[in-house]
Amino acid sequence: MSETVVFLNGELLPLSEARVPVLDRGFIFGDGIYEVIPLYNGKPFRGAQHLARLQRSLASIGIPNPYSETEWLALIDRVVKANGLGDQMVYMQVTRGVAKRTHAFPTEVTPTVLIMTNPMALPPAASVEQGVACVTMEDRRWLNCQIKSTSLLGNVLAAQVAAEAGVTEAIQFRDGNLTEASSSNVWLVKNGRVYAPPKDNLILEGIRYGLMEELCAAMDIPFEARRITRDEVFSADEVLLSSASKELLPVVTIDGKTIGAGKPGPVFQRLFAAYQAAKSAL
Ligand SMILES: Cc1ncc(COP(=O)(O)O)c(C=O)c1O
Repeated sequence: MSETVVFLNGELLPLSEARVPVLDRGFIFGDGIYEVIPLYNGKPFRGAQHLARLQRSLASIGIPNPYSETEWLALIDRVVKANGLGDQMVYMQVTRGVAKRTHAFPTEVTPTVLIMTNPMALPPAASVEQGVACVTMEDRRWLNCQIKSTSLLGNVLAAQVAAEAGVTEAIQFRDGNLTEASSSNVWLVKNGRVYAPPKDNLILEGIRYGLMEELCAAMDIPFEARRITRDEVFSADEVLLSSASKELLPVVTIDGKTIGAGKPGPVFQRLFAAYQAAKSAL
């Protein structure tokens, strides 16, 4: 297989030749924004929403967006075509750029832009059919979780807690309320209703958050965004995870305790089928 080709600062080049100076503020401070867009059959799924979130995140930390939506889509297409067909996960990153190391924003700096793509690795069929295990932990991240920042140390540490426990995700709580998992949003089902924490600064608003709202509305499943306590999570009928790479997964144990009937529930089945249909309609 030929080597992966990436886009770096205006050029397509083999991954092993892509280089960023050590003074890049992404390397020094984690001063950057990223996005992960799934492409099915070469077509971005919810591409406009991902690019709108990129724009929001960049604006919130004062990095000018180097490209318009049309330009981003054309660049993504170039990178994907250079790497072959099939379902892909595109990773895009914009850092503030290269400058002498001082904390505050440098005045004259050009953002560093990276786009790379990998073949999509969806969760194994067994995870969808039997459900997955999670653990819980205190959310110790900063209070700007709505920004899709490359400063991911809090999320890295949470993912490591899950990895060491041998489970799929670490579900986090702040002040006793559900926030999100290390790299996924968390959903609850109780008495046929779907609940999620509000879209605020305590969670990243996943692109699947909006999609789930749409799918619930289309299928007449009542949806409510509100604070969710730890007890509510453990007494839920169903708990679900969503992210670009997990799509939608049913959680059947948390901290070793069985959730609901201990198998993927009916609301998961309906939402998962609707998710697959939305992909096919691309
Ligand atoms: C912290 C966090 N929350 C939620 C999500 C889900 O977002 P999306 O649906 O856009 O993949 C992610 C995705 O990686 C994430 O890192």
